[in-house]
Amino acid sequence: TPALRRLVAATRLHPAELVLPVFVRAGIEAPVPIGAMPGVVQHTVESLVAEAGRCVEAGLGGIMLFGVPRAKDAGGSGADDPAGILNVATRAVADAVGDRLVVMTDLCLDEFTDHGHCGVLDDAGRVDNDATLERYAAMALAQARAGSGMLGLSGMMDGQVGHVRAALDAAGFTDVTLLAYTAKYTSGLYGPFREAVASSLVGDRATYQQDPAGGVPEALRELALDVAEGADVVMVKPAGPHLDILAAVAAASPVPVAAYQISGEFSQIVAAADRGWIDRERVVTESLLGIRRAGAQIILTYFALEVAGWL
Ligand code: PBG
Repeated sequence: TPALRRLVAATRLHPAELVLPVFVRAGIEAPVPIGAMPGVVQHTVESLVAEAGRCVEAGLGGIMLFGVPRAKDAGGSGADDPAGILNVATRAVADAVGDRLVVMTDLCLDEFTDHGHCGVLDDAGRVDNDATLERYAAMALAQARAGSGMLGLSGMMDGQVGHVRAALDAAGFTDVTLLAYTAKYTSGLYGPFREAVASSLVGDRATYQQDPAGGVPEALRELALDVAEGADVVMVKPAGPHLDILAAVAAASPVPVAAYQISGEFSQIVAAADRGWIDRERVVTESLLGIRRAGAQIILTYFALEVAGWL
């Protein structure tokens, strides 16, 4: 019976373990819909603060902010500008929600660079790992000053966790926590996100993100490095295609494990449900239960508010 199944359920979803990723864009008067992500918008600062209030009401665990600047340049200068959109929005959300929600910020340059890569480029046009670490440190300080409680290191540079941790500690931000994208795979499923942040990327990120053809041992090496460098939470992303990785990381990790159900995973479900081919609530619930069962304690999903309404 339904009552019996509920009594013995081994896996449950809870709003406190869900995080809503959100986009905030400079220079717009009203929220702008994202075509490839029906129901998701680029927010104004004002509409974002209202959305954060809904997250508090729904009992979500956190909100993850991504910024879409007015202008982009080679170094991604908008990323560490205190007047840049992400930092302004972070301050507004942090002031509005206080400690009722963990305010998280994406710490990566791709939203801010005119070439769309997650780091700065060298003369040959390749991503310069160590020069990028300096940019990440500056970005981390700007985000910490803006009130972010958890920095999402999504750029996949080697040494990024340790470098940012040292910069934060030296500036006295010892309580600002780090969410390390430990196993982040190159994925076609990032497609809708590129529209969401108006990315100008040509090509892919295969030289610094992980290869889906890699395996568990590689992910576990990445885990060991991130933990040794000071990661407070580690993440596997995208979630759905990499549940084996998620299970292995969850079994080995000494710190909480998150998984990100990314834009393309969201859009696939929405598109099929909109055509009446699948049932939206059933498939969303099943996809999140699978991620939860594989071992994620925290799930970032664009369905977070909707799901919280069902629980
Ligand atoms: C990098 C970043 C990306 C996403 C989160 N952080 C884009 C990428 O790596 O290409 C994708 C999230 C999604 O697709 O929902 N700043």
